[in-house]
Amino acid sequence: MAADAEKKSDASGKSEDGVKVAQELESLKWVRERRSIREFTGEKISDEHIELILEAARHAPSPENMLMMRFIVIRDDQDTKEFLADLAQEMAQTAFGGAPFELTSGRNWFISDPYRAAVYARLRDGELFRYPEKSDTVILVCASEAWHDAGYLYPNSLFGSVVCGMAIQNMWLVATELGYGCGYEALVCSDPRHAQLIRDRVGIPPIWEPLTAFCIGKRVSPRALGPSRAPLEGLMYEERWGRPYTRLAFREDK
Ligand SMILES: Cc1cc2nc3c(=O)[nH]c(=O)nc-3n(C[C@H](O)[C@H](O)[C@H](O)COP(=O)(O)O)c2cc1C
Repeated sequence: MAADAEKKSDASGKSEDGVKVAQELESLKWVRERRSIREFTGEKISDEHIELILEAARHAPSPENMLMMRFIVIRDDQDTKEFLADLAQEMAQTAFGGAPFELTSGRNWFISDPYRAAVYARLRDGELFRYPEKSDTVILVCASEAWHDAGYLYPNSLFGSVVCGMAIQNMWLVATELGYGCGYEALVCSDPRHAQLIRDRVGIPPIWEPLTAFCIGKRVSPRALGPSRAPLEGLMYEERWGRPYTRLAFREDK
């Protein structure tokens, strides 16, 4: 399909029959530009822009359109933002505080030498993850296994979390296009004891499970270089497990 579309494109890269080619795809541009941002200026974002971002979440697909997702949008409650920052920092110390430098350092090869140690220090003491307190908007995203009319539960691992993930990605892309940064703070909900504190604080009912604090804010600076991704053949298999996908450039019949 993609190969056909490319063959039909003219010299300027535009396609002849209305099928877009890679260079024309706005969606791919924003997918590639989206990054995790963890440093915010603390400035306010306009209500209109935040509403546009929320609107994107509404369009997430869900099984039978049952939308088993809810969002608590926190903008004014600075105490709760700081409470979430405290939880994230405490959890980060537990998660990363004990890992030897060399291990994490290897995974973060794309950060150049003088900065890697500093980033790692902030990772270990959890300071890097305090960003909810400087975000304009923190969205507590909740999924439910029971919010539907079937006579059994739909596991969040297969349904609710997936729906929420799609909604979050929609918001992330719109926020990126608007020029804002986003951070996915799962650390606040990773320990069920912390999740319970969040439930109590903002009144989340038992059938809803908080998954993350999704943070939106003005970026201190755009994050140009992100962690690279494995190439297609590292992630995709052809027809069956273990047979690496062959990119078009490496196919003999191309
Ligand atoms: C399910 C999930 C959980 C994540 N948890 C956290 C988190 O707790 N804190 C954080 O700052 N980033 C978190 N991230 C963001 C990842 O670290 C980030 O997406 C990854 O390192 C790739 O970087 P990029 O988003 O800039 O492309 C999470 C992302 C996902 C999808």
